[in-house]
Amino acid sequence: MEITKAVIPVAGWGTRSLPATKNVPKEMLPIFRKPIVQYIVEEGIAAGLKDVVFITNQNKTIIEDHFDRNFLLEQLLERAGKTAMLEEVRRVASLVNVIGVRQKEQLGLGHAVLTAREVCQNEPFAVMLGDDLMFGVQAGIGELLKAAKETGKAVVGVIEVPKSKVSRYGVIKGESIDSHTYRVTNLVEKPKPEEAPSNLAIIGRYVLLPEIFDILEGQRAGVGGEIQLTDALQGLADQDKLIAVRLAGQRFDAGDWVEYLTANIYFALQDEELRDDLVKRLQELLSCSS
Ligand code: UTP
Repeated sequence: MEITKAVIPVAGWGTRSLPATKNVPKEMLPIFRKPIVQYIVEEGIAAGLKDVVFITNQNKTIIEDHFDRNFLLEQLLERAGKTAMLEEVRRVASLVNVIGVRQKEQLGLGHAVLTAREVCQNEPFAVMLGDDLMFGVQAGIGELLKAAKETGKAVVGVIEVPKSKVSRYGVIKGESIDSHTYRVTNLVEKPKPEEAPSNLAIIGRYVLLPEIFDILEGQRAGVGGEIQLTDALQGLADQDKLIAVRLAGQRFDAGDWVEYLTANIYFALQDEELRDDLVKRLQELLSCSS
């Protein structure tokens, strides 16, 4: 099974991140030195994906521009002798083939995925949410691609969360296949802790087969009046066509301020030049606020 495309839905309004996202797409907010979406594209490339299909709206064109050449800026950097920065700007522009598809109405994540039908046609494809960051060993879309190739089935990424937090997520009921892979039998959207079938929460990484498009096409709006991807996945689980892979490593939901800020600190702490000064300032802040 060859998979080359990553569908990255970025057409949402980012209401949890207002007013920062009034005119700047949430996916372009910086985490340390790079916009959020660049981390996601780089994760896809590291896993061998070649083409990115952005599901966009009319306010999101700067996302596509970020992965394109900017000749004026390049000339300026060249004249100023800023060679390292020039190379970095050119590297970003050469990362992937970009395909942009407009989601003309924001009718939900399932609808955003359906918008990619014309581009993906009969190919299996990855879906990576434009605001969900994963880092570390066994942490990304590469793990799901391996499972999809081995089983020939659709795959959803899950992480373990404390029981107290399950009501924020879609949660799977599954039977273990091995230490980190499950056959999914049921998906429950935002369950109460006492009603959750497990503590395995769905995060924004999927590998889907083209049959998902027929399911989504015939699907009515679900929770919140939106076409929900989870409802389509339930259709696959009912036919024993859905696997879950438990991912490890660090995961940040960039639409949540605590997670967004923690991700910034996580990356800045890995920068040798900044680390010591940052730790000092954080310690000062913590001693002031306690
Ligand atoms: P979210 O619900 O996290 O993002 O959707 P949102 O709607 O932008 O943000 P809030 O909840 O209002 O703060 C997950 C991903 O799916 C995309 C979003 O852009 C985000 O990357 N999405 C969501 C679409 O592309 N289209 C939709 O209709 C809905």
